Amino acid sequence: MSPRLKILNIVGARPNLPKIAPLMHEMQSHPEIEAILVHTGQHYDEKLSDIFFRQMGIPSPHVNLEVGSGSHASQTAEILKRIEPVLLERQPDLVLVVGDVNSTIAVSLAAAKLGIRVAHVEAGLRSFDRTMPEEINRILTDAIADYLFVTEEDAIEHLLKEGRPRSSVFMVGNVMIDSLRHFLPIAQQSAIGDELALKNGAGWQRFGVLTLHRPSNVDSTEKLSRLLGAIDAVAAEMPVIFPVHPRTQHRLTQVGIQHHPQLRLISPVGYLDFLCLLSKASLVLTDSGGIQEETTALGVPCLTLRESTERPVTISQGTNLLVGTDPGKIVAAARDTLAGNGKAGRIPGLAP
Ligand code: UD1
Ligand code: UDP
Repeated sequence: MSPRLKILNIVGARPNLPKIAPLMHEMQSHPEIEAILVHTGQHYDEKLSDIFFRQMGIPSPHVNLEVGSGSHASQTAEILKRIEPVLLERQPDLVLVVGDVNSTIAVSLAAAKLGIRVAHVEAGLRSFDRTMPEEINRILTDAIADYLFVTEEDAIEHLLKEGRPRSSVFMVGNVMIDSLRHFLPIAQQSAIGDELALKNGAGWQRFGVLTLHRPSNVDSTEKLSRLLGAIDAVAAEMPVIFPVHPRTQHRLTQVGIQHHPQLRLISPVGYLDFLCLLSKASLVLTDSGGIQEETTALGVPCLTLRESTERPVTISQGTNLLVGTDPGKIVAAARDTLAGNGKAGRIPGLAP
């Protein structure tokens, strides 16, 4: 028997998990592949990590680097230091990274310096905003990765402009949406609608979902207050469920912002509950990367509370509207959507 192809897969933060799940599943069904999973420990809260492993059947990591939180430099440096001995010991043929978090660039760099080939899943996305830490991570990872797996056509153009050879770029579709499609029927059985009293005898009532965690939106008290002020106006019309990311929770704990009672702050929710909420929402307001794609896949209107997006196909074809962070514009777009004038969309990649 020819030697097995040893692939070392990396996860670190919440959005990596729905991307790695179908890949691990597929690799494990190929006896010619030895799939190793390493968790950097960038995210470590149960609701940001373990629950995804359980719900999505992701195998337990072979190694957890347990780097925890820190500044960008210290977190990235710690991952670099801790992954190197693992790579030397395991000697993989290929390292596979997903997304755009600090774990993505740190492990890619360590592997490239050891002469190990790197595959980047979700390559080529660009917001063209270098104040976003993720944009730096994307550009650098793509500069050193050997295999660039892209989810949308624009990404190919970006990579070619940056001088990457066409032969290293592969259009493969979107593994996060593979997860969504696989888990949606299971998510529909979630009890979250009853738990949050979003259902009555007639079924689901109208509600919105909000997520915020971009440093540019939540690290400044003033910015966060203004955003939540706009959401208050939406919450006056229907409940808005807000699973609060720990970064955002830190800011809210420090300053204690007042909000409308129908804006309902809860802890981050597990993947299946969240998918259920997204699929039943009348409107989603977010600054997340992945949620822009998930709402487009679900056909649910999404208002993105940012000035730029690295996922333009969700705008050009999907249900996503880039509304920015001006409170007046957010409220106007939300009212428009709720009045039935929301952005219609279709699933990218499918015939119009
Ligand atoms: C990270 C990613 C971001 C991604 C987001 C998804 C980078 C640079 N950022 O941002 O691209 O969109 O994850 O959620 O990689 N914390 C906890 N528990 C945890 C993890 C973090 O309480 O399990 C707190 C810590 O106080 C930490 C803060 O959240 O300092 C931020 O965590 P960090 O991983 O640095 O960045 P995120 O904002 O989560
Ligand atoms: N998500 C979740 N529970 C939540 C918020 C998000 O399961 O309370 C999921 C969401 O469906 C998506 C992923 O987490 O699959 C997105 O992660 P996040 O928004 O933190 O990161 P980003 O995509 O912005 O990097």
